Formats: sequence, C-alpha cells, structure tokens
Amino acid sequence: MTVKPILLVAACALVDADGRVLLAQRPEGKTLAGLWEFPGGKVEPGETPEETLIRELREEIGVETRTACLAPLTFASHSYESFHLLMPLFVCRRFSGVPMPQEGQRLKWVRPQKMRDYPMPPADEPLIPFLIDLL
Ligand code: C5P
Repeated sequence: MTVKPILLVAACALVDADGRVLLAQRPEGKTLAGLWEFPGGKVEPGETPEETLIRELREEIGVETRTACLAPLTFASHSYESFHLLMPLFVCRRFSGVPMPQEGQRLKWVRPQKMRDYPMPPADEPLIPFLIDLL
C-alpha cells in the first residue's frame, strides 16, 4: 500500500452583506482548472491556517482581514490520487477592500443555494450544505 502525503489547505467563505459567498475559478494552467473554489491555499510550514488565509486573501484577491474575523466552520477531507487533502473552512464577514482577481482567476459572489450551479473540486462540494445552514 502506498502512503499518500497529507496536504493542508485553508479555505475561506468570504460573505458579503447580502449573504453571498465569494467563489474563485481556478485559472488555466492550474490543476482542476475551470472549477470554482473557496479562496485560500496551502498552509506553509510555521503558519496557522488563519495566517495562511490572511496571506492568501491579500495575494489572491487583494482583501485584508484579521484572525479575529475568521471563524472556523467545518473541515473538508478528500483523497486525491497522489495526496489526502485536509481543508478547514473558515467564514469571514469582516474584511476590507473589494475582491479583485490578482492571479487571472474569475471571481463571483454566489448565494449558497446557487453554488451547485458552479462545478467545484470534490473536496469543496460537501461544504455547501454547511453554508446553506449558516447563511
Ligand atoms: O490551490 P493549490 O493548487 O495550491 O491547491 C493544491 C491542491 O489542493 C489542488 O491541486 C487541489 O487538488 C486541492 N484543492 C481543493 N480545493 C481547494 C483548493 C485546493 O481540492 N479549494
């Protein structure tokens, strides 16, 4: 049996005043290109997931937030072919700046009930009911 490495990725449901959630479309050239995901990224050594999100939200969409504004909601896990993904999902309602794509990705504010219209990576899709319940 091959032992797969565990990849820790932090994800964030950024929520606007209307209760819509920001989705980002993975750009061409990346794995899972074209699928819609919650913004976030790999937790680098020495980082907490909250620190990862503060960094990734700044780098990917030009938004600023703080640890106190990131509320953990649930955990996703999925076994991909070459690694196991563990992905805590945080909810953030307090941030500054208007999300603008910094890496060529498309962004869209989506109501949780409409998220199934946006194809997502297999790890992200099971998170939708948690957001429907919350929002
Ligand atoms: O975003 P990045 O390519 O660094 O993520 C590494 C891997 O984690 C992706 O190739 C994908 O398999 C998985 N991932 C995911 N859902 C996300 C972010 C990443 O399934 N929201």
